[in-house]
Amino acid sequence: MEITLPQWLDTLIFDELGAKYSPSYSDMTNIDDDKEKTLNYLGTYFPRSYAESYCIFSEYFRANNTYLSNKEQLSIFDFGSGTGGEIIGLLTLLNEQFPNLKLIKIVALDGNQNALQIYEKILKTLQMHIDVQIENNSAPIHIDDFYDLHVLDKVMNKRFDIIMSFKAICEFVTKEQFERQNAYEHIAKFLTPKIKDDGILLFEDVTTYNNTSQEWLPIMMDKGLMLANCVISKKNEGYNQTYFISHSHKTNDKSKVAWRLINK
Ligand SMILES: C[S@@+](CC[C@H](N)C(=O)[O-])C[C@H]1O[C@@H](n2cnc3c(N)ncnc32)[C@H](O)[C@@H]1O
Repeated sequence: MEITLPQWLDTLIFDELGAKYSPSYSDMTNIDDDKEKTLNYLGTYFPRSYAESYCIFSEYFRANNTYLSNKEQLSIFDFGSGTGGEIIGLLTLLNEQFPNLKLIKIVALDGNQNALQIYEKILKTLQMHIDVQIENNSAPIHIDDFYDLHVLDKVMNKRFDIIMSFKAICEFVTKEQFERQNAYEHIAKFLTPKIKDDGILLFEDVTTYNNTSQEWLPIMMDKGLMLANCVISKKNEGYNQTYFISHSHKTNDKSKVAWRLINK
């Protein structure tokens, strides 16, 4: 699928915030990114996550069109939200397709303050372009090991309609945040009880071979989800799915990702 970044968003990230288009190498991590690196991320990977989220969720809503049509409120939790491309993509789609929605409450968790600050600026501008009211709660928490996951109970004291994680768990694998154990398994086990009965959990990640775990990430994701007893209701076509995003700094920028959608 192909998507073009909305003009207001293109102007905001490149002209006002100073984003740069600068693709990087595999196994990169962003948790320690300074302001300059965060702007490289913003100009390169934020538009990709925006497009991937917009496309994956539109496919899901097309097939499940009653899922949101009666709701006035929605809650979203994003694990490793960073600059929030996937949140902005999802909110844009929800605003276009579900005029019944009046309020969306978000909890955006990330250990990088630079990324969260940029996300909050973008969200503030997005609010001027959409009708639905957004209530955001950023959670600047750096998770060091699996015991730390329970710190999240404070910001996850209610269950959520949508829980998602885009390109974040790969960093836990690269940094051996859960020692050598399967990060997808631990995070899925922790997050699944926090989805509402009719809610969804979406894991999306890069599809590369990870040199730390010495495994292909989508294979590791599948093993982890199986060990966490998650039932996958929808997934990317084939081994990975390609999305294209165009913006002022690149036409048809290509991203390949793997995703798994889990219902309660
Ligand atoms: C590749 S970025 C993805 C950001 C965003 N989800 C997207 O798709 O554009 C990975 C994010 O995970 C966050 N992250 C990685 N390890 C983390 C940890 N141990 N605790 C909290 N956040 C972490 C990083 O700060 C970074 O923003």
